[in-house]
Amino acid sequence: MPAHIPVLKREVLNWLAPKPGGIYVDSTLGLGGHAEAILEASAPHGVLIGIDRDTEALAIARERLRRFGGRVLFVHGCFGEIRNHLRGLGIEGVDGVIADLGVSSLQLEDAERGFSFRLDGPLDMRMDRGSGLSALEWIQRLNEEALSEVLFRYGEEPKARAIARAIKRAHAQGALRGTRDLAELVWKVKGRRGRRDPATQVFQALRILTNDELGELERWLLAVPGLLKLGGVVVAIAFHSLEDRLIKRAFRSDPRLEPLTRKPLVPGEGELRENPRARSARLRAARRSEAKGGEGVVHRVEEKK
Ligand SMILES: C[S@@+](CC[C@H](N)C(=O)[O-])C[C@H]1O[C@@H](n2cnc3c(N)ncnc32)[C@H](O)[C@@H]1O
Repeated sequence: MPAHIPVLKREVLNWLAPKPGGIYVDSTLGLGGHAEAILEASAPHGVLIGIDRDTEALAIARERLRRFGGRVLFVHGCFGEIRNHLRGLGIEGVDGVIADLGVSSLQLEDAERGFSFRLDGPLDMRMDRGSGLSALEWIQRLNEEALSEVLFRYGEEPKARAIARAIKRAHAQGALRGTRDLAELVWKVKGRRGRRDPATQVFQALRILTNDELGELERWLLAVPGLLKLGGVVVAIAFHSLEDRLIKRAFRSDPRLEPLTRKPLVPGEGELRENPRARSARLRAARRSEAKGGEGVVHRVEEKK
């Protein structure tokens, strides 16, 4: 099983500052790395709610966190629904919330999940294999123009048009059987220069589409400030600029939040050597404060949703 090393763990603990009686939410439980650190730091009574849409990740995290007993509650679902998940558990306010976005090493290193252009597998890319359309079904459903728009918008892929055309053609000819076919098709259109694999942006775009990643993040960013107790902290780790932009904007513009990081924190050289997955991580944190302009503002903001 891949060992998932939690990204920017020290910084996460530093900002969340877990305390013994606190209640924390790990919105992206994954293999339970951050959750374990939060549970240790909030011993003996801290409680953690761990959310993930991937049942396989939940099963692994459950095993890893077994020793914490009733201090952990597991939720299978999307973090965009965080408010409903907490309501369902009877929890109204929490001391800290974290999201470590993107895919886990479990997802990336399993060819069958279809996230990796280095391995050959089906074009699935769903984090929750029990719901929604796979990447291949999206490719079938979108016309060339819509597909090109997705590659451009979610992958910031400059060759979006040519790649979309090649994908639709290969699909019509029955030549798009899996991730390897897709990666090779992109290499043909773009060439294979540079340090980054040329297929990176296309895979990113299809993954974002398949999992509605930006929609999920927007819903989470809207809900979290209203769930934090005064003084509670939210920490978000982004892996590409589309996510980071949404987080930065929400932390700056929500009157209930006070940004704690002017610039995003990034991993140091030591962490990068140990954990290459941390390469593009950017962490931002914000604290729930009195809304500027008084409590009335809080109510207006909450009523709008
Ligand atoms: C990078 S991993 C988290 C790793 C975790 N912090 C750890 O230390 O093990 C991201 C996890 O978030 C989950 N995830 C991503 N988007 C989600 C969403 N919208 N709702 C729920 N879970 C999500 C993925 O399934 C994946 O398991």
